[in-house]
Amino acid sequence: MKVNGVAWRSIAEDGPHAVRIVDQTQLPFAFATLRLTRCDEIAHAIRSMQVRGAPLIGVAAAYGIALAMQREAADASLDAAHALLLATRPTAVNLRWALSRMRTLLQPLAAGARADAAWQEAGRIAEEDVAINRALGAHGAELIAAAHGRTRQTVRVLTHCNAGWIATVDYGTALSAIYQAHDAGVPVHVWVDETRPRNQGLLTAWELAAHGVPHTLIADNAGGHLMQRGEVDLVLVGADRVSRNGDVCNKIGTYLKAVAASDNDVPFYAAVPSPTIDWELADALREIPIEERAAEEVRIVSGRDASGQRAQVMLADATTPVANPAFDVTPARLVTGIVTERGIAGPAELARLFAPARAAA
Ligand code: MRU
Repeated sequence: MKVNGVAWRSIAEDGPHAVRIVDQTQLPFAFATLRLTRCDEIAHAIRSMQVRGAPLIGVAAAYGIALAMQREAADASLDAAHALLLATRPTAVNLRWALSRMRTLLQPLAAGARADAAWQEAGRIAEEDVAINRALGAHGAELIAAAHGRTRQTVRVLTHCNAGWIATVDYGTALSAIYQAHDAGVPVHVWVDETRPRNQGLLTAWELAAHGVPHTLIADNAGGHLMQRGEVDLVLVGADRVSRNGDVCNKIGTYLKAVAASDNDVPFYAAVPSPTIDWELADALREIPIEERAAEEVRIVSGRDASGQRAQVMLADATTPVANPAFDVTPARLVTGIVTERGIAGPAELARLFAPARAAA
């Protein structure tokens, strides 16, 4: 996607021994990139959320393995890099998926062949991410166009967190659908949940503004009210892990939006690239590890002061007990449909949509 007229990817190769990432901790106030050359730098970038979003952390981890193999390609190095990266964030299954794919490819190879093979495979995973997001966005755009076809009015979409191009290599998931609908001339307006405590909604607002998509930032608690007043046509979110029966794990607060959507007959869709589906998962509520993040994220807000300098404001005293679960699970019964690169399926049809590919895998 473009920033000030220049095409960017959220992660890109920068020569044969480095990747360049968009440093998301600087957004929305500054667009800055970082050049990373070591596996531990990638691990730090994922942990600190310089890179974030389920698809992107999977791709970043694949490059982390590739960079580790360039320095030392013995089995012990592969195992250490795998363990380091896997421990960075627990919830998005894309991380485990990408690491498993890299290890499965590399383990049988002689150490001398691993560096090149790893770099090429990480590149393939990145390119696949772009193609998947483009394809699922096209299906999602049809959904938005169909809503416009019914009403002939601007389609009002509510989204939570950031499922945009910076959460993937390019296009995004939920926002891929919105971009493609907008580019096709479908009038769309996006209600952007702020998404406390990390405020990923500000990243979404930044992306939408850069692409010229009309949008309005709202406090997290406003969505239900807007749905009651008939001001939301569609809820469209991303996902960090989806079970085979269509339970959707996504950013904390998604579940409450799905409950409000169900109560107000607003369709609730999740945009889900196939690497986000955990086919091994039987019980999403019990089995998905929900990341518990630092209390400071809730106690302290970060932004800019009146002079434009980075600033932090403490909202709660350091002694105030805090819980900070980063994700929640929306049960399949609240999900109208799942938008994938293969098309849109009701939660119960998800496995059937991917049946041939899974049989061949
Ligand atoms: O904690 P984050 O910012 O990594 O969480 C990201 C989300 O929850 C996104 O909605 C999800 O990864 C989908 S991104 C295409």
